[in-house]
Amino acid sequence: MRAIWPSLPIDPTVYSFTEQKFEFEARIPVATIAVIGTGYVGLTTGACFAHLGHDVICADIDEHKIARLNKGEIPIVEQGLDKIVEEGMRSGKLKFVVGAINASKHAEFHYLCVPTPQGGDGAADLSYLEIAAAEIGPHLPANSIVINKSTVPVGSTRVVAKKLNRSDVSVVSNPEFLREGTAVSDFLNPDRVVIGSEDQEASIRVGTLYAKVAAPVMVTDPVSAETIKYASNAFLATKLSFVNAIATLCERVGADVNDVVLGMGYDTRIGKQFLRPGPGWGGSCFPKDTIALHKIAEDAGYDFSILTEVLNVNTQQFDRTAAKVLTALGGSGAGKRLAVWGLTFKAGTDDLRDSPSIEVLTRLQDSGVEIVAYDPAIDAPPRELPDIKIVADPYSAVEGADALAIMTEWDEFRWLDFDQVAEAMNNRAIVDGRNLLDRSVVMRRGFTYVGVGR
Ligand code: UDX
Repeated sequence: MRAIWPSLPIDPTVYSFTEQKFEFEARIPVATIAVIGTGYVGLTTGACFAHLGHDVICADIDEHKIARLNKGEIPIVEQGLDKIVEEGMRSGKLKFVVGAINASKHAEFHYLCVPTPQGGDGAADLSYLEIAAAEIGPHLPANSIVINKSTVPVGSTRVVAKKLNRSDVSVVSNPEFLREGTAVSDFLNPDRVVIGSEDQEASIRVGTLYAKVAAPVMVTDPVSAETIKYASNAFLATKLSFVNAIATLCERVGADVNDVVLGMGYDTRIGKQFLRPGPGWGGSCFPKDTIALHKIAEDAGYDFSILTEVLNVNTQQFDRTAAKVLTALGGSGAGKRLAVWGLTFKAGTDDLRDSPSIEVLTRLQDSGVEIVAYDPAIDAPPRELPDIKIVADPYSAVEGADALAIMTEWDEFRWLDFDQVAEAMNNRAIVDGRNLLDRSVVMRRGFTYVGVGR
């Protein structure tokens, strides 16, 4: 039998499971996994581990959410999640319970997937993590492993270990790289799995949970694993702010950013992904993680000034998008009606957290404009914008509108009847914050069209 894992001790190394997949499938035992927290990350993690053959119990403090999940209702929009949750519940491999202890008392692996929101000073707030660790600590079976999946500041494995107060239990960092909307596919087909612990045997045990996943598994120390997560998100945010800055330059010099990024992306060192300019970037991770990494650096005595600019450029992008919309409305919002297509922070999700649309529309609200919005995943106004009107279809949104702003790249917007849209609007002006539409299609119908960087 070939050795699956190199003998200990292990240096930070990358292992590829791909060639050995067949042997693994025969030999990997089914693990019992508790997942604490059933948000985007926890629910996806639990359902995917059940799909991979493990026995999973997901816990949450929210009784209502657990009751819904037990009825097979998925509280979030996430492609493919409903299928694997249903599959897991049917096979008995996926269960939902109220309370972390009820999940953890019989499990060998304990995934902490609780929120780590931004605290007042920019650092991630660890209180949910600490409470969960303190709660399960006394109830964990001997020699089990607690795993941080939440995005946590560098050094958090030690914080969790202290709260657990169990010398026989190891703590491992196993950060998630799941994009909302494609989280299931990202979990099952990841670019890499990162595992960090001071206990290398524990890292290996966690690595075996992914045995059926064909991806490099990288084993490192916990601080490096935690840094990989922040560095990856902050790098992607930097890439986007750079692209948005290039888009602004393109507007000034008369270049077309779509062609510019296409030309850049052919260079494999740059890559084609994450080069789409937009109204600014957002979501539940990038803003908070970029700010948190800046704070981590500051606490370590380093002024990570690039990140300050990355955040500044993003704020400027929100300002610029709002200014374009105001110009399309004729320079003033008073007595005008603005139609908005798309509110979520990107397509494929119902998540409004830190959405660029909220940033932009908040800037416009003071102008006195009336806002009527349509988003396929949203049926009530965002908390931050209680006065906007939500309608059930894109044509109702443009009825009598003085301008249309496209804020999210939902594909369906591209295929609408623009004759009907033109008829319905009071004034034919479009600000396409995502460069989503074929501008010749709308310009032919008498629209003025303003995109990003073109
Ligand atoms: C991100 C990371 O991608 C993921 O690895 C991590 O674990 C969680 O955070 P997510 O927040 O789901 O995922 O969103 P992502 O798809 O990365 O998009 C973030 C923001 O960037 C969105 O506002 C999106 O619209 C914007 N974006 C993305 C662009 O403006 N242009 C692009 O080319 C890509």
